[in-house]
Amino acid sequence: MITIADVTKRFGPVLALDRVSLTIDKGERVAFVGSNGSGKTTLLRALLGLIRVDGKVTIMGSDVALEPETALRTVAYIPQIAPPIEAPVAEVVRACAALRDKPEQAIWERAERLGLTQDRCRDKRFRDLSGGMKQKLLAAFALAAETPILVCDEPTANLDTAARAAFFEELATRPPSSIVVLCSHRVEEVRAIVERVVELGEGRLVRDAPTQELLRELATFRVEVTLRDGADDTALLARGFERTGLGRVVIQVSQERKLELVTLLLREHERSIVDLSVLPVEDLAMSHPSQRPVPHLKVVGS
Ligand SMILES: Nc1ncnc2c1ncn2[C@@H]1O[C@H](COP(=O)(O)OP(=O)(O)OP(=O)(O)O)[C@@H](O)[C@H]1O
Ligand SMILES: [Mg+2]
Repeated sequence: MITIADVTKRFGPVLALDRVSLTIDKGERVAFVGSNGSGKTTLLRALLGLIRVDGKVTIMGSDVALEPETALRTVAYIPQIAPPIEAPVAEVVRACAALRDKPEQAIWERAERLGLTQDRCRDKRFRDLSGGMKQKLLAAFALAAETPILVCDEPTANLDTAARAAFFEELATRPPSSIVVLCSHRVEEVRAIVERVVELGEGRLVRDAPTQELLRELATFRVEVTLRDGADDTALLARGFERTGLGRVVIQVSQERKLELVTLLLREHERSIVDLSVLPVEDLAMSHPSQRPVPHLKVVGS
């Protein structure tokens, strides 16, 4: 169990965390979401005892600031930014295996399941790996440690589609009692991994809800329209669309406005439209109503 009690963190004038409190129980999978700079990584770092904070964080009853070794024995971490390690990958793998008292093979097996083979990387310097290769290796270290708690910061941001799916599968094989805490911007990641979402805004906890509730509410769609040559887009711009190129306009709308908009487009602009696509927005922060970059659709007559 993890408890975060009244945690505040300032970086000079920036209040990165403002009296955040929450509890994560055995078996829970939780995502921290929110826009860039909202405090997600800082909260993870506070949880891991990597920064000094006001307030208190305990893991399985041990205070991370006072007894970090005991508190963190049960935790593995996949950082957002890989450390610039000079040593060759094979040496890093050896050191990590020794640290966790696991065979090196356990790490290589995990890496290979994520699509990173030994022969492609073992002799390279860790810092020279590509972003995705580093992320696969860091994930392999954390997964192979088989700790009851896994903490990850944007764990699939650099992964290709196959590796992302493999990572989700690896997480699914963890014991049901284990805890997963992650920071994410990706709807797909949150949907696949967690049941609870904690949303931060300017360092404050602004929401703590089941994933389904949040996804339902945040579901946002991008409606892209391609117009016939010479067609007038003034009426669409007046409804809140933005031009993205010659003859192309786009708007971002909520789930309930999507149908209303498409109906209206087909009714009133059918003759000027060549193509119409409706795509789900796969970015959690972008889709929050308070951070939408485009104004709400103005329906004619309303
Ligand atoms: N070491 C630091 N020194 C100074 N300011 C910092 C430091 N770390 C974070 N901050 C500031 O604290 C705020 C929260 O940053 P944080 O990295 O926690 O955001 P985040 O939610 O993880 O964002 P992102 O989605 O971009 O990863 C930001 O204003 C950031 O500039
Ligand atoms: Mg971050």
